[in-house]
Amino acid sequence: MKVLNFGSLNVDYVYRVDHIVRKGETLSTQSRQEFAGGKGLNQSIALANAGLEIFHAGCIGPGGEFLLDVLKNAGVDVTFVKRMADTPVGHTIIQNSDDGDNCILLYGGANQAVTREQIDAVLEHFQPGDYLVLQNEISNLAYLFERAVAKQIQIVCNPSPMNETVKELPLEKAAYLFVNEIEAGQLLGADSGSERELVGALSRRFPRTRVILTLGKDGADYIDGDKCIHQAIFPVKAVDTTAAGDTFTGFFMGGILGGQSPEEALRYASKAASIAVTRRGASPSIPTAAQVRAELDGQA
Ligand code: RIB
Repeated sequence: MKVLNFGSLNVDYVYRVDHIVRKGETLSTQSRQEFAGGKGLNQSIALANAGLEIFHAGCIGPGGEFLLDVLKNAGVDVTFVKRMADTPVGHTIIQNSDDGDNCILLYGGANQAVTREQIDAVLEHFQPGDYLVLQNEISNLAYLFERAVAKQIQIVCNPSPMNETVKELPLEKAAYLFVNEIEAGQLLGADSGSERELVGALSRRFPRTRVILTLGKDGADYIDGDKCIHQAIFPVKAVDTTAAGDTFTGFFMGGILGGQSPEEALRYASKAASIAVTRRGASPSIPTAAQVRAELDGQA
C-alpha cells in the first residue's frame, strides 16, 4: 500500500502582530519570518513524521526549491513535484497575533498550475488500495478526485479552504473526510447546530465515509456510521495555531494506516496537534512521532 499526497506547497510569510488587522487599518508588525507551508506540504510532513512512507505530488515555481529540501529532510519522496520555470511558487501572508490566533491570505501560484496531464501521469504509479491525501489548494481537484475514485484509490480528503470547488467533489466517495465545524456546516448547507446534531447530520450525509470532525478547543469526533468517538484536547498555551489541523490529519492517518484503532489515532493526533500549537510556523511546528509518544507516555 502506497500513500500519495497531491497537494499545495507554499512559502508562508508570517507577520507577528499584536492583533489581527482591522478593516481600513494600517498596522505595524513586530517581525516577519519565512516558513515552509501549504496544507499539502504540512500534511506530508505530518504523515511522514507519524511513520508513513509518503509520495508528494504538486507544483513549485522559482523561490520554492527550499520546500523540496524540507520535504526530503522529513523523508518524503518528491519525485512527483513538478518545477515550473515561469509560475511563481504559491505563498501566503499570515498574521499571527499575540494571543495565538492567525489569519491567512493565500496566493495559489504554481499550486494552480496542476494539470490533468500531470494528474494522469502521477496516478499511473498508483494502484487500487493505495491512498491519496487531498486538500483544496491545487487546480483540477475534481478531476483528480474522479480519476482516483475510478482507479479504486482510497481518498483521504480535507476540503480546506472551503470554496465552490468543494461542491463539485463527490465527498461521499472518500474513505476519510476531515472537516472542522464551520466546514461541516457549509457542506451540510445548514447552521452548525449543536455538536450532537452536527454528528448526526454528517453520519446521514456520509454513511460510508469515516468523518473526523475537529472542534477546536472542544476536541474532535470520529464518526463511522452510527459510531461516534470523542477525543478531548490536551490543554496547552497556544502561540501559533498554523498547521495544527494539518498535523492532526497527518498523525490521525499515520496512526490508522500504522495499525492503530480510531481511539488510539484520535489521541495520537490530538497530542501531536497540541504540541504543534506551542511552536511557531507551519511545518517547523510539526512534532516527530517520538516527541508525541514521549508526551503520551508521560501522561499514561
Ligand atoms: O494549514 C496551514 C497552511 O494553510 C499554511 O501553511 C498555509 O500555507 C496555508 O496553506
